[in-house]
Amino acid sequence: MAQFLNLAEVTAGVAAIEISRPEALNALNTEVLMQLAECVKKVRERHDLSAVILRTGGDKAFVAGADIKEMLHFTQQQGHDFARFGQSVFESVFNLPQIVIAQVQGFALGGGLELALAADFMIASEKAKFGLPEVGLGLIPGFGGTQRLVRRIGYARALEWMTSAERYPADAAFNSGLLNRIVAHEELGRVAESLAATIAAQGPSAVRSAKQCARAALYSQGDFGFEIEAQFFAQRFGGSESKEGLTAFMEKRKPQFRNSSASGQAGQ
Ligand code: CAA
Repeated sequence: MAQFLNLAEVTAGVAAIEISRPEALNALNTEVLMQLAECVKKVRERHDLSAVILRTGGDKAFVAGADIKEMLHFTQQQGHDFARFGQSVFESVFNLPQIVIAQVQGFALGGGLELALAADFMIASEKAKFGLPEVGLGLIPGFGGTQRLVRRIGYARALEWMTSAERYPADAAFNSGLLNRIVAHEELGRVAESLAATIAAQGPSAVRSAKQCARAALYSQGDFGFEIEAQFFAQRFGGSESKEGLTAFMEKRKPQFRNSSASGQAGQ
């Protein structure tokens, strides 16, 4: 069976989930999704990782969507199962405890944009192009895009993207609030790795806690998110990580969160 997924070690605290099916512009068929699910399971167990880059093979496309050839003869039941499966795999990406950075070098269309939306950040080449072309195929986004794009860029813009099938260049996507950064094409990999390494140099469990608190802001109402923040803040004082960070500041040196007793499991 073809191997489409690889988990690459990048540097201390950073790995990369790599999807490689460039001959089909990394289109997502059931096999790719199954392998992605397996890879994400392994990443979830990696307590040493603070950041994960999501990147793909080839220069032209991040991912050109769900596999159109596979969907050609779908029944309604198969359509439902495919959407539910894709949604669950992307949800597992979304729920990773590490910071996930999608590195978008080219087309991120349909399911490809939906996959990038399941990451925490998107960093894109100036050549990248984004869109939800599904309505042009008589379809709609089925891997969470109708929900996640609305949450990311707002109802009116997201619905325009969904119903016009237009392709948006990187600067328009940036102006819509979709992207964290646009970088020169040849710099993309270096910038993504550098940002991931910067995150990995911080207190590992503090980074995970910050992500959980930001999630609470997405889904909670009223005072709940503030209480979650206070609880995670308090938890910081129960382990060695904050001792190292605070002491290092007082001693005017860089903190050593990795390869020291301060590094390690989330929750410290
Ligand atoms: N599924 C399967 N194969 C795909 C694909 C897809 N989504 N996108 C591209 N490919 C294949 C092409 O069929 C072609 O294969 P062959 O060489 O065997 O013919 C190969 O990748 C290269 O593609 P093109 O020749 O089309 O390359 P291009 O440079 O001319 O165009 C493109 C690039 C604009 C991205 C174009 O390929 C394209 O429009 N792709 C489809 C984009 C799309 O509609 N995505 C949405 C899919 S539906 C979806 O994602 C539903 C969902 O939410 C669950």
